[in-house]
Amino acid sequence: MLMVDLIEKKRDGYTLSKEEIDFVIEGYTKGEIPDYQVSAFLMAVYLRGMNDEEATNLALSMLHSGDEMDLSMIEGVKVDKHSTGGVGDKTSLVLAPLVASFGVNFAKMSGRGLGHTGGTLDKLESIKGFNIAVSPKDFIEQVKKINIALVGQTGNLTPADKKLYALRDVTGTVSSIPLIASSIMSKKLASGADAICLDVKVGAGAFMKNIDDARHLAQLMCQIGKNCGRKMTAVLTNMDEPLGFAVGNALEVKEAIQTLNGNGPSDLTNLCLEIGAYLLVDAKKFDSLEAAKNAMLENIKNKKALNKLIDLVKAQGGDATYITDPSKFAVAKEVVEVKANQDGFVSHINALAIGHAAMLLGAGREKLEDKIDMAVGVVLNKKVGDKVKVGDTLAYVHTNGKNTEEALKEIFEAYEIASKEITSNLILDIIR
Ligand code: URA
Repeated sequence: MLMVDLIEKKRDGYTLSKEEIDFVIEGYTKGEIPDYQVSAFLMAVYLRGMNDEEATNLALSMLHSGDEMDLSMIEGVKVDKHSTGGVGDKTSLVLAPLVASFGVNFAKMSGRGLGHTGGTLDKLESIKGFNIAVSPKDFIEQVKKINIALVGQTGNLTPADKKLYALRDVTGTVSSIPLIASSIMSKKLASGADAICLDVKVGAGAFMKNIDDARHLAQLMCQIGKNCGRKMTAVLTNMDEPLGFAVGNALEVKEAIQTLNGNGPSDLTNLCLEIGAYLLVDAKKFDSLEAAKNAMLENIKNKKALNKLIDLVKAQGGDATYITDPSKFAVAKEVVEVKANQDGFVSHINALAIGHAAMLLGAGREKLEDKIDMAVGVVLNKKVGDKVKVGDTLAYVHTNGKNTEEALKEIFEAYEIASKEITSNLILDIIR
């Protein structure tokens, strides 16, 4: 087989066989096929697309390029969730202890990632001592003991995806539905969970700008998972404003703790109940979504979910008094208000701009080696649908002095205020 023939075949719109896709992925992972040919191949896929079978084969080929987690030693159903990346998205911090409080195994491995704020792992590291570098053996032991672990990826999971993703990043080929679906699903399959819930974000602040593309991506990822024997759900959620109020590492962990105490923002709480219900039903803990949601509300009320977060923090070496006394988290030196200059109703909050402002303040990293400032970020005071008057505070900016003026301007401009009230729907569709 020659790589140039496969590039031409895809360029001309033909379907690639499993053997042909394996040839590309194996050859590239071993360094036998050069970047320039794979770049041309990726662009051909970007322009011509792939059918569902090709995308499944691509995911499987990337999955088999490295190690896979074997969670069979853990009894019972193992569940996991993945979000395609949202601003203010601290869902895992609430969802994982909530689901694990029913004895369901929540075994999650994440990469560090670049972005506006850190990923789930970075956020957890705002808790003093919290360790994300857990060996696969200890990961399994921890899940067996307390039903929950949130750790960094170890071993050599999906090396093909790592190489391909880096190449896509510099060749304008990231936003291709089959490439995104196979990339995400190869990693989710490698992490070994039996039931997976995907949170596919839709809107200006997300990879998928419209509901049709988001639905197509979600359906494709569910199909890939199903073909591999996993129980799949995808929740399509609106990213036309950040999730919850807080955007920034320690700020988001504090909001997650509030949510587990029953005082969280309604959008975040509802999303966690929705995703949690599907996972608990898939784990056969409840017969209906309604029963699962009621039981989760009860485990928030009786503090079982919060206590599970405390178990997690203790098991991974963190100082659990941060959870009972959130005043221990690092705080920024200064809090500056962003004020409204007109009356009306908030109609849209550009989530990407809010995320970018948080990054300017130091909450996220542009390069993997950048250091994150855990304390800084943005706390929204007004969300879509809220009434505002001139002089009202739209958002609070928690700053240690880095790029404050620029961030303030960006946050102010992120708010759109209209004369009529707008209602916003967080959950747009569910795919099972
Ligand atoms: N996240 C991933 O892991 N892969 C993609 O291709 C896009 C988002």
